[in-house]
Amino acid sequence: ELKAVIFDLDGVITDTAEYHFIAWKQLAEELGIAIDRAFNEQLKGISRMESLERILVHGGKADAYTPEEKEEMAQRKNEHYVSLLERLKPEDTYPGIRELLLELQREGIPAVIASASKNAPQILRALELTELFSYVVPPDSVKRGKPAPDLFLRGAEEIGVGPEACIGVEDAQAGIEAIKAAGMIAVGIGEEAALTASGADVVLPDTTGLTLRFLRELRA
Ligand code: BG6
Ligand code: MG
Repeated sequence: ELKAVIFDLDGVITDTAEYHFIAWKQLAEELGIAIDRAFNEQLKGISRMESLERILVHGGKADAYTPEEKEEMAQRKNEHYVSLLERLKPEDTYPGIRELLLELQREGIPAVIASASKNAPQILRALELTELFSYVVPPDSVKRGKPAPDLFLRGAEEIGVGPEACIGVEDAQAGIEAIKAAGMIAVGIGEEAALTASGADVVLPDTTGLTLRFLRELRA
């Protein structure tokens, strides 16, 4: 029986995965590193600092900067990203998400956010979705990021539901791995082949098919 749905944020609730890509691409260009969408798949779900490290390794510059310089770069990326967030409006919520959250609320099934992003509360406010979630896991409250299960397990624990009664929803390969490591059913949003390879139980091309009926059948 379905007792909770644990959502990733960026790329599941709204298109902020694209904003992250735009902001990283600009920073990478400033450093003389080219990143494309295929490489970007490896950054999805990954923390800010770890993403920067991966970009530097990708550009052959893993040892080129001091920790202070890296902090400054990560901050510069975040400032650009936050400036892109200023345009976010409730209408930017992905199709069907608000309806699903309202259905879950009506049925008394908690919805939780398990995102690596420190900007999650601000994004939920901009989309006017804050009160539809029972809990937003603070990314700093867990030791390990995705693909480790920690964020999803912390979310389930907070609302007192066992992993076997949860469904996790993710657009990132690392996120699908995290959901499966947590012992939950994983719904992927996006490209079928890559998400299935990461262990997704089912993949939808976008959020339009993500209804309570669909989720309940998965946990029947
Ligand atoms: C994840 C995104 O949700 O959050 C990553 O998929 C991002 O791309 C990570 O790097 C951290 O986000 P933030 O907003 O704290 O830099
Ligand atoms: Mg995501």
